[in-house]
Amino acid sequence: MRRQVQEDFPFLREAAGPLRYLDNAATTQKPLQVIEAFSRCYRAACAPVHRGLYPLAARATADYEAARRRLAQFIGAPRAEEVIFTRSATDSINLVACAWARRQLRPGDRVWVTRLEHHSNFLPWQKICRERGAELRIIELGRDGRPDFDAASELYGARTRLIAISQVSNVLGIVNPVQQVAGRARARGIAVLVDAAQAAAHERIDVGALDCDFLAFSAHKMYGPSGIGLLYAAAPRLAEMEPFIVGGGMVDEVGESESTWVPAPARFEAGSPDAAGAVGFAAAADYLDAIGVGALGAHVRALADRAMRCLSEISEVEIYGPSQEGQRAGIVSFNVKGLHPHDVAQVAGEEGVALRAGHHCCQPLMKHLGISGTVRASFAVYNDESDIEALCAAVRRARRLLLSE
Ligand SMILES: Cc1ncc(COP(=O)(O)O)c(C=O)c1O
Repeated sequence: MRRQVQEDFPFLREAAGPLRYLDNAATTQKPLQVIEAFSRCYRAACAPVHRGLYPLAARATADYEAARRRLAQFIGAPRAEEVIFTRSATDSINLVACAWARRQLRPGDRVWVTRLEHHSNFLPWQKICRERGAELRIIELGRDGRPDFDAASELYGARTRLIAISQVSNVLGIVNPVQQVAGRARARGIAVLVDAAQAAAHERIDVGALDCDFLAFSAHKMYGPSGIGLLYAAAPRLAEMEPFIVGGGMVDEVGESESTWVPAPARFEAGSPDAAGAVGFAAAADYLDAIGVGALGAHVRALADRAMRCLSEISEVEIYGPSQEGQRAGIVSFNVKGLHPHDVAQVAGEEGVALRAGHHCCQPLMKHLGISGTVRASFAVYNDESDIEALCAAVRRARRLLLSE
């Protein structure tokens, strides 16, 4: 696959020194198709969106709305109005907390998350639950290291208002059974939010099939620009949301003491929108569809399996998460016993292997694992077997250099 996309990614030629970029769960590199769509916007269609009457402004507005329609199609949303542009997955989840949950939660209600959640899908619920006197419950991991949905008693109970879960864990690569959870929740009128930040680039997202109420992700983890994300909110939930950020572009009539809002999605997009970001985001969806999200998912899973095999041959290496092959998305977290993850990542960095080290914004999971952090390798379309070899060579080197000291 790397050969097929080699020409698309300038970083492969332009980054300083040879680079094995294995930090894709944090952010992916961008293909020319996205960079050019983004830059075309600033070169030829730069004007205010939804604000000007002259042709250039009409074009900027049309491009922005076309991007929304494209992304709605990308995730199988029946109506483009159900797609709200935000700054990121984090922003999207906070929007649900502040615009929906703040109105919906009553004292004693429950919100459930899993032990795996990224802070972005944990803290907004912790905060809003405290504010509303609701209870934040955690779906703990079972013996197999996966969230044990069946053991979470009362998950689908009368007090549950929302289940907020990631589709793919950014630390362990675990793929959660979101469709199954959403189906059971739906039957009881419980809302489900899917954090698809790690899924968007490698799992086909179909909000119709998932039957979820909310779904959030960022463009930058799926080969798109930084600073833009989206929230899918199903029409009935959209109708239950109150604007959270107010200002230009979302208002209909402004009175001195009362104002009225325009309909969604503009109602939730106060301020001047990021038109180039939206266009680049849609170009990323085109890019993914041209390769095929299924093929991409299979590619990164195969690399993760290969990395696990190779890493597990190195003594002192402990790998976290599912051990069977084919069980994880393209993410592998590990530690070298006796070494701090930062030290391993630093030695790897000197070898040109870009890894992430730390708690990966998942402190509740780290506490459960009894560690302060891990080293994480995460894969993308431009990675291949030679990157895995470089990864394992770098880990061996870190072991040699640091353990013998
Ligand atoms: C599972 C998950 N959710 C949410 C986020 C937050 O994404 P962003 O920083 O783009 O808002 C991340 C980022 O790493 C993530 O991995």
